[in-house]
Amino acid sequence: EEGLHPTNYPWEHVKFTKTFDHQTLRRGFQVYREVCASCHSLQRIPYRTLVGTMMTVDEAKALAEENEYDTEPNNEGEIEKRPGELSDYIPSPYKNDEAARAANNGALPPDLSLMVKARHGGCDYIFSLLTGYPEEPPAGAVVMSGLNFNPYFPGTGIAMARVLYDGLVDYEDGTPATTSQMAKDVVEFLNWAAEPEMDERKKMGWKVMAIGLTLFGLSVWVKRYKWSTIK
Ligand code: HEM
Repeated sequence: EEGLHPTNYPWEHVKFTKTFDHQTLRRGFQVYREVCASCHSLQRIPYRTLVGTMMTVDEAKALAEENEYDTEPNNEGEIEKRPGELSDYIPSPYKNDEAARAANNGALPPDLSLMVKARHGGCDYIFSLLTGYPEEPPAGAVVMSGLNFNPYFPGTGIAMARVLYDGLVDYEDGTPATTSQMAKDVVEFLNWAAEPEMDERKKMGWKVMAIGLTLFGLSVWVKRYKWSTIK
């Protein structure tokens, strides 16, 4: 069963003349860390990619060092613990899928790295999902126990409860942390996670068009020049 079709929102970062907003990415990552990270992994994101996009080197290093990672086995085959480094990946909240299901009533919180690309509707869908929990399910709706009503989720019964509430996080740049602001920020951050090359791709697109137009113009001029005696 299809979910309710999400609204088409005018995402700035998606426009061909625009880029990701770094302040937004920084806020969105804060939402991921403080809200989503307790259940959802972000397995494809190493700390080094945060540098220059939403953090300074020192901030990213300090964040990596908050977690411990296994060392490579030494000659005796022993594995020890070491603090995280920029080359490490953001750790997952659970050891494995079984542990994740056990903590979530049998449901598996999916990895969010590629979620914007994986779900039909992308940014619009995730924003609608996060902000679309009604206070009460509509009259007549059948909601299985342990599930929550959300019209945007295919089937409308979702294991994830509403997680965003006004004022949940404290943004350091003073942006009011309304439910929709946090949803917008985390969605743009997740779009960056799924397509970190987007800004580069757009820049390349402009170059391709500039060079293409120049060459085309040149070829028109050459054609006219060469044929001018015959015409
Ligand atoms: C599913 C996003 C926080 C538990 C999902 C899905 C998305 C998502 C996009 C996939 C829905 C689909 O399959 O179409 C987020 C974001 C969060 C967040 C952006 C933070 C703002 C949490 C938290 C928990 C959680 C804190 C646990 C307490 C789950 C579970 C599912 C899920 C169990 C699977 C739902 C099902 O298949 O029925 N989440 N989530 N999520 N999330 Fe979250």
